[in-house]
Amino acid sequence: MTPTTTSATATTAADESPHVGDSPLPGRFPPPPELTSGGEQLLQRLDARVNRAVAQLMDSLSWRAMMEAEDAGLSSGVLREVYREVIWFFSAVIESGLVMSGKLAWVDTRLMRELVEHLAEETLHRKTAMDGYLALGGTSKGVEDPMSPSAFAVASVWRGLERMASPLTYLGAMLLFEASTPQLCQPLSTRLKSIGVSAVGAHHVNLHATADVEHSALFRRWIVRLVNRDPAAAAAMEYGMDCMAAVYPQPVFDAAYARAAAQPADVEPFPVRSRMPADAAAV
Ligand SMILES: [Fe+2]
Repeated sequence: MTPTTTSATATTAADESPHVGDSPLPGRFPPPPELTSGGEQLLQRLDARVNRAVAQLMDSLSWRAMMEAEDAGLSSGVLREVYREVIWFFSAVIESGLVMSGKLAWVDTRLMRELVEHLAEETLHRKTAMDGYLALGGTSKGVEDPMSPSAFAVASVWRGLERMASPLTYLGAMLLFEASTPQLCQPLSTRLKSIGVSAVGAHHVNLHATADVEHSALFRRWIVRLVNRDPAAAAAMEYGMDCMAAVYPQPVFDAAYARAAAQPADVEPFPVRSRMPADAAAV
C-alpha cells in the first residue's frame, strides 16, 4: 500500500530544521560522552608502544639484513637464527603463560579458558619454528646448546612476570608478541618468497602473518573489557608490555644477525639491494 500525504500533514525541509529557540539551555545538556573508554585509551597507548618497537626494529641493521642483503644466504641465516631464539625461549612462554592464565581464573573464568585455548594453539608453533630452523640449515644439536643471552632474557621476563608480578601483566606482554608479529611477518613473507626460501623454511613466518591478527584481537578485546571493568588493571598490563619490550623484539633479532653474520651486529654493514627511502633522502 502506497502511503499518502495531504497538504495538512505534509512537512517540508524548512519545517524539520531545528529552531534555536527550541534548544534546551546549555546547562541542561547531559555531559558529552567520552570518546574513548579507559580500556580503549590503554589500548591506544599499548598500540603506540608496539608500533614504536616495530619501527625501531625495522630501522635496525638486523632487520635490514633480512630484508635487503644482496646475500640471500645472510637473510635466510638471520631468519634461521631468529627461529633458534624462538625455540630457546618457547617453553617459558607456554609454561609461565599457563600459570598466569590459571591465576586469571579469579578475574574471569571465561578469560582463563580463552587464554588456555590460545596457548594450546601456540604450542603447535614450536614445531613449525623447529622445521623452519632445520630447513634453513640448523641442526638439532644447535637448539640443545645453552640458550643465547637474548633468548635467556626473554625467557626470564616470562618467568619473572609469572613469579614477581600481577598475572594481568600477561595480557600486555603477550599483546606485544601478538600485535608485532603480523607487522613483521607480512613484509618478511614477501621477502622470503623473492629470495626463494623453501616452503618449509618460510611456513612459520607465513603462518604468523595472518594467525596472530586473530590472536591479537583476543588480547585487545580482553584488555579493553577488563580495564573498563576495573581501571586499576591498566597499570599492570602496561607494565607487562614495558618489561617485554625491554628484551623483545630487537635484541632477539640483533643476536640472530650477529650469529648469522658471525660478527657483532653493530660493526660492518652489509651490501644492500636498494637503498631505503630514508637513506636516499639523506644523500
Ligand atoms: Fe600467536
